[in-house]
Amino acid sequence: MRTGVWLVGARGSVATTGIVGGLALRAGLTAPTGCVTELPDLRGPALPPFADLVFGGHDVATTPLTKRAEALAAAGVLPGRLAAALAADLAAVEEDLRPAPTGGSQADRAAAVTADLTAFRDRHRLDRVVVVNVSATEPAPSPHPGHADPDALRAALAGGDEVLPPSSLYAYAAVEAGCPYVDFTPSTGLRLPALAALAAQRGLPYAGHDGKTGETLVKSVLAPMFAMRHLAVRSWSGVNLLGGGDGATLAEPGANAAKVDSKQRVLGETLGYVPQGGTRIDYVEDLGDFKTAWDLITFAGFLGTGMRMEFTWHGCDSALAAPLVLDLARLTAAAHAAGRVGPLPELAFFFKDPIDAPTHSLSEQWQRLVDFTRELHAGGAG
Ligand SMILES: NC(=O)c1ccc[n+]([C@@H]2O[C@H](COP(=O)([O-])OP(=O)(O)OC[C@H]3O[C@@H](n4cnc5c(N)ncnc54)[C@H](O)[C@@H]3O)[C@@H](O)[C@H]2O)c1
Repeated sequence: MRTGVWLVGARGSVATTGIVGGLALRAGLTAPTGCVTELPDLRGPALPPFADLVFGGHDVATTPLTKRAEALAAAGVLPGRLAAALAADLAAVEEDLRPAPTGGSQADRAAAVTADLTAFRDRHRLDRVVVVNVSATEPAPSPHPGHADPDALRAALAGGDEVLPPSSLYAYAAVEAGCPYVDFTPSTGLRLPALAALAAQRGLPYAGHDGKTGETLVKSVLAPMFAMRHLAVRSWSGVNLLGGGDGATLAEPGANAAKVDSKQRVLGETLGYVPQGGTRIDYVEDLGDFKTAWDLITFAGFLGTGMRMEFTWHGCDSALAAPLVLDLARLTAAAHAAGRVGPLPELAFFFKDPIDAPTHSLSEQWQRLVDFTRELHAGGAG
């Protein structure tokens, strides 16, 4: 199953690490550590093999992919020997990267993205192309009547309005090109009634939002523990310090608010109440792609006895995120091949703020994912 992986934000840290990783797996130069689809419970014939993944994408930046890979190697995010060994493959992927369309109306830009996607699919004779948003986090958009349904959206776009935030414009273009869509960011993406209806009309599955790779991953394991032991969490405060492109974007208040919102949701929904405290994200340039999260939890036990726990997480964000991007592309491609339409709540395991997911407990999400892939491998799940 030849599968295109079209990355919006293709020259960013997560995308570049994903492309280098995908090429390295294809060449047998690395092990699939961090790729959950290679675990025995998930592995199977319904998923496109790494060798069948073909990469392309859009970006507003123009830095060559080989330079981005070298910079990530210099920063210790990926091994320098891989950037060197894969230089020719990276140059080949470069041929399939396109500048983000600028100028003209939003309708013109969406049509240009759709044309790029269709040409990519035809050029490589792909069975399907999964569009994955890994571009910079954007602030929440202002409401617009065009968000309500497909007719209102088409009318607003035809009228020349700036209707959609960039992530949603890519999602719209993906749907118009007949491509399943995954949002690895907290941006709006396909989360508008008009776009969800369009995806349903076109028979497309989609998944999101916001990859769960660090502090929130740990929270989604710990919060159910407190809930199941009937311990009262009084406060949960977290500080995230990070650099890199994502850190710089999140220094901007609108993007920061979108991310913080996404990170706290797991607590309210798992515990059934919202403890005191909040999550902070601070930009520290020197940390680059390596993030430190420090969380302090205070809780009460029997007879109201107060206790506390704290944890510190030191993660390399792109190394944690990139294998999940590959997993999501493979799973969403398989879901599309099986005829799934609409949101894929079975992929909640991967996200901080999953669409239509009844639970934030990682173990329950894991079981749902295992059942889903089992059905896919058995030829079902459609
Ligand atoms: N790394 C993680 O663990 C993790 C976890 C969850 C979510 N995310 C999200 O993934 C995204 C990517 O993270 P990153 O570290 O790679 O960030 P990055 O800043 O390195 O990369 C973002 C890329 O998007 C490009 N871009 C910006 N606007 C664009 C547009 N309109 N069209 C096309 N490209 C555009 C930028 O030029 C850049 O190359 C962020 O939104 C981040 O919040 C990352």
